Amino acid sequence: NVGNSTNIAWHECPIGKLERQILLNQKGCVIWITGLSGSGKSTLACALSRELYALGYLSYVLDGDNIRHGLNKDLCFKAEDRAENIRRIGEVAKLFADAGVICIASLISPYRRDRDACRAMLPESIFIEVYMDISLEVCESRDAKGLYKLAREGKIKGFTGVDDTYEPPLNCEIVIAPTDGECPPPGTMAKQVISYLHENGFLK
Ligand code: PPS
Repeated sequence: NVGNSTNIAWHECPIGKLERQILLNQKGCVIWITGLSGSGKSTLACALSRELYALGYLSYVLDGDNIRHGLNKDLCFKAEDRAENIRRIGEVAKLFADAGVICIASLISPYRRDRDACRAMLPESIFIEVYMDISLEVCESRDAKGLYKLAREGKIKGFTGVDDTYEPPLNCEIVIAPTDGECPPPGTMAKQVISYLHENGFLK
């Protein structure tokens, strides 16, 4: 599907994904972290990239909040804008993965259809969906940015979990959840993802 463009062709480069993978000693992939605001997506993304760096692997974080400062600054939070935010980040993540990088995308991505569309645009098995299974109560009690309070006061409309839906994944690769009522610390979450990457041949 080439959208609205016509008379365009695809050019192959002599140095491809395989060559880059050999050079980097890793297989490019997209680690897609989804969950409510305050569920720890960015914390996991940072811990994971730090841990990968320490192990000698190349990663790059695409954080929803950050991308909205530039590439996606024309978008707001209505459903079609969220869908476009997710689509663009999916396309950028696809390029990073093709470059051989372990691309960590952390954004709420509340609708299943949008996440599944990203999965579908990537080669099989390189989309690793990580669900932050942290309850609304816990996320709201953290309220690091004070946004839940504003949403409850009606000062932010369409806030995920308050007056906009979040659809949890039905079949994701990794679930981050509390054990014995305690949310896992960043290092433990990162290690859970790194184990998956090792077991599935993404890290040599
Ligand atoms: S989405 O749904 O994937 O397009 O959202 P994302 O790009 O991850 O941006 C979420 C951050 O924007 C802030 N914010 C909101 N979140 C949810 N709903 C509404 N209405 C909203 N307005 C602003 C909020 O800080 C989110 O950051 P995180 O890191 O998730 O807390």
